[in-house]
Amino acid sequence: MSKRTIVAMPGDGIGKAVLEECIRVLDAAGFKANYVQGDIGWEFWCKEGNPLPDRTLKLLEEHKIGLFGAITSKPKDKAAAELVPELQGKGIQYYSPIVGMRQFFDLDICMRPCRTFKGNPLNFVRRGKDNKIEEPEVDVMIFRQNTEGLYGGVEWTNPSDKVYDALMSHPKFVDNFSWCPRPELAVSTRIFTKKYVTRIVRAAFEYAKKRGFEKITVCEKPNVIRETSGMMLKVAQEMSKAEYPNIWVEDVNIDAMMMWLTKNPENYNVIVAGNMFGDIVSDAFAGLIGGLGFATSAQFNPENGIAVFEPTHGSAPKYANYDVSIVNPIAMILSAVMMLEHIGENEIAERIRKATAEVVAEGKVRAYDMMKLKGSPEVINNGAASTKQMADAIIAKL
Ligand code: NAI
Ligand code: MG
Repeated sequence: MSKRTIVAMPGDGIGKAVLEECIRVLDAAGFKANYVQGDIGWEFWCKEGNPLPDRTLKLLEEHKIGLFGAITSKPKDKAAAELVPELQGKGIQYYSPIVGMRQFFDLDICMRPCRTFKGNPLNFVRRGKDNKIEEPEVDVMIFRQNTEGLYGGVEWTNPSDKVYDALMSHPKFVDNFSWCPRPELAVSTRIFTKKYVTRIVRAAFEYAKKRGFEKITVCEKPNVIRETSGMMLKVAQEMSKAEYPNIWVEDVNIDAMMMWLTKNPENYNVIVAGNMFGDIVSDAFAGLIGGLGFATSAQFNPENGIAVFEPTHGSAPKYANYDVSIVNPIAMILSAVMMLEHIGENEIAERIRKATAEVVAEGKVRAYDMMKLKGSPEVINNGAASTKQMADAIIAKL
């Protein structure tokens, strides 16, 4: 087997600790790869005025597959103040390197799996019939459109004449918003394009087909947001008819979904949504399966083949400088499992997933979040496993 090259982007804070442990697990599982370091994050913003240097983009372009830890972001004024003196006062603007990477490579498909690990004390439970406590098994993949919609960045405060005139051409704007003085007007657009809506919906159907599920759920709000949500629902319904006759389309509004998922999360397997609603519904489902220590995501572009895998959590700066790292590496390790599946290393992926599941089910080795402790260096003395011990436990099961 030839060796793959993976662009390892630890980023900031706990990103470094979790990625290091993740790579140890990959090595132990027999995944043969070279890891090249991709610089990203706060350190490079401060030193170079760019949190996502061109050399990192080049590495991703060349090697296609990235494993990413987490980065630290700060508000604009703080960012400007932390630049090295030589770069200050030059008008260099901070931007989010994650959003930057997404836009640069057009990583439009985001997949966020939420699957229950048996024995995880953080699993969602509910009171069922006869007062019995039930622990429904969650097995959901959320397909989130990653580049458009409310996060597309097309927005204005105090819009220009051109923009204002365009808005005034809409009767609803005239009726409901023309009273507002222009400097007090803020507008964020929600743009959907048929090309990218079709891509995310198709990805959801393909996944449903592969796993043998009979429906996909469009989680939008087409009865109110008629144009954009309506487009996604229509694309899904037409695709079902024309190409996936055995998979039907369920239409659930985002607000209703937030209720249903705490009542019957086991009723959903494949969800597709726009950028913001996908973000919301995936965080909500993540809460049912253990939260940030377990939540993970993949983002990729089916055309250029570039794919980046990352835990959902951030850099958790308050835990970054502990002598012994206490954060849970499972979310990062599960990101690597998604990476392995993406590149066709299914056997190794399955082994790591199984090993992780066994460690969780056994319950002997648990990170502080799984013990519901408040994070502090003390948790190690109270029986919590360190980041390294969690990884060791998984390696031992491989
Ligand atoms: P965060 O996810 O870094 O941390 C929030 C809390 O979640 C932590 O204090 C900790 O209690 C818990 N937590 C996070 N990861 C954990 C893990 N692996 N194991 C156990 N517990 C864990 O979010 P926060 O505090 O809002 O942001 C911190 C920094 O991270 C900010 O600069 C923010 O901009 C950035 N961020 C970066 C993201 C990324 O790189 N994808 C995503 C979210 C935030
Ligand atoms: Mg989110």
